[in-house]
Amino acid sequence: MPPVAPGNVRVLRGDARRLEGIDDASVHLVVTSPPYPMIPQWDSLFARLGAHDYAGMHRVLADAWAAAHRVLVPGGILAINIGDAMRTIDGEFRLWPNHATTVTAAEAAGFRSLPYALWKKPMNRPNAFLGSGFEPPNAYVTLDCEYVLLFRKGRLRRLPPHDPARAQSRYSRAERDRWFSQVWTDIRGARQGAEGRRTAAFPAEIPERLVRMFSLVGETVLDPFVGTGTTLLAAARWGRNAIGVEWDPGVFRGLAQRGRALGWEVVTPSRPGARVGRGVRAPPRRRSGGTGAPTG
Ligand SMILES: C[S@@+](CC[C@H](N)C(=O)[O-])C[C@H]1O[C@@H](n2cnc3c(N)ncnc32)[C@H](O)[C@@H]1O
Repeated sequence: MPPVAPGNVRVLRGDARRLEGIDDASVHLVVTSPPYPMIPQWDSLFARLGAHDYAGMHRVLADAWAAAHRVLVPGGILAINIGDAMRTIDGEFRLWPNHATTVTAAEAAGFRSLPYALWKKPMNRPNAFLGSGFEPPNAYVTLDCEYVLLFRKGRLRRLPPHDPARAQSRYSRAERDRWFSQVWTDIRGARQGAEGRRTAAFPAEIPERLVRMFSLVGETVLDPFVGTGTTLLAAARWGRNAIGVEWDPGVFRGLAQRGRALGWEVVTPSRPGARVGRGVRAPPRRRSGGTGAPTG
């Protein structure tokens, strides 16, 4: 177990594109995995957000990266787990390069790109192969990696010399050697249980590693596409405070139920103005209607 007291956790029903109720420059690290454009599982959610094609889906995400930029402290890190998609549209098969479009969008939102990691997923069928037989040229390379894209808001963070929180947040030499190599082949977890499969939860090892690589004990970590709350559990376990934002009412209900059992603070738009911690306010009550607004 980590040698620190667990952090506080708040979950907000809200929209990653606005992050209402979260103050400017109040978050030290954003760790998230958004819905992946062009993966059929997310088509209906993107449609509810007003997005019906690749460009529209990335416009939704681009607004979220702009909101993340607003709430991060100068020097704060944005870590995005995303995978590319393969899909046939109008009879034509192609790769939809979500990682590349996300890099362009995050840079347009004001972030600077940092060296990224590739997470090599354990495959159920190690030699999964798209093609037939052994003759060229029409087979495809297997997509068995996802990206962990890393960005910084502005320049390096300035920390006081001999900061005790920094010392408390140390990792070991062996952890450093594994975590800061570019290909992560040691992520054990498959996606999590039954609920996790529906919501595409990532293995806990991913947010846990990112939280320890890029934040200090006592700081605040945000996941704007929080889903089942994997990031929140990881952050709290390692002594960071955490905020999660979820837009889908059904997913939020499950998250709220789980969170209450764990003593998390649950904030919905029906409690306008409620303070949910330093630098965080509940979003104001919204009128229903309007694409993408929380629906109550
Ligand atoms: C890939 S899942 C995240 C899974 C999460 N990492 C976990 O471990 O459970 C993306 C989540 O983002 C939510 N979402 C989609 N659009 C959103 C938006 N505009 N604002 C907030 N959450 C959103 C989805 O409902 C879904 O729960």
